Amino acid sequence: MNATLDLLRTRRSVPPLRLDGPGPSAAELDTLLTLAARVPDHGKLAPWRFLVIEGEARTRIGATIAAAYGADHPEADAARLDLEAGRLAHAPVVVAVVSRAGPHTKIPEWEQVLSAGAVCMNLVVAANAAGYATSWLTEWFAYDRRVLDALGLSPAEKLAGFIHLGRPQEVPGDRPRPDLADIVTRI
Ligand SMILES: Cc1cc2nc3c(=O)[nH]c(=O)nc-3n(C[C@H](O)[C@H](O)[C@H](O)COP(=O)(O)O)c2cc1C
Repeated sequence: MNATLDLLRTRRSVPPLRLDGPGPSAAELDTLLTLAARVPDHGKLAPWRFLVIEGEARTRIGATIAAAYGADHPEADAARLDLEAGRLAHAPVVVAVVSRAGPHTKIPEWEQVLSAGAVCMNLVVAANAAGYATSWLTEWFAYDRRVLDALGLSPAEKLAGFIHLGRPQEVPGDRPRPDLADIVTRI
């Protein structure tokens, strides 16, 4: 098998807690984002954009996440609030893929959202091919307006995912994968 097929056959998500530095350099990250953006895109709308969250921004946004959680869960103890504050602080860099899908005369919004999903997966594949490991997560705060405001998303924008990216401390064994017999229909 070739390297790409091998990567697709063996790639595993690595939880953010198991992702270490050093992260990619600015030039390397630009390359990964350039490759991530090379996706099918009906109407060439580029209905997505990237937020690079690294350095102190990880804890700054983390403080907003913890504050939102605390406001909704007054019973939350310090340990839980610390956990929430650290949600984006484990991997050296987190790339948020923002979907800016919207009404369009020709291109259904659904297809724009699919393209944003493709961007997430292209970034996952490119980063893994470059020797990093990733986790594509949303978690509760991807749907929380207070956090989305802190990230600078407009009211019409949605989060397609947070791609946590770093060096794997360890790669977990594989998980059960769907059986082709259950997911393939030949017609
Ligand atoms: C849009 C999207 C959001 C996800 N959000 C979460 C999440 O919040 N928490 C989580 O544990 N896994 C989440 N996952 C699943 C992980 O990305 C991953 O698929 C899972 O951990 C299995 O690992 P694998 O990629 O090695 O198959 C999400 C996946 C997708 C596509």
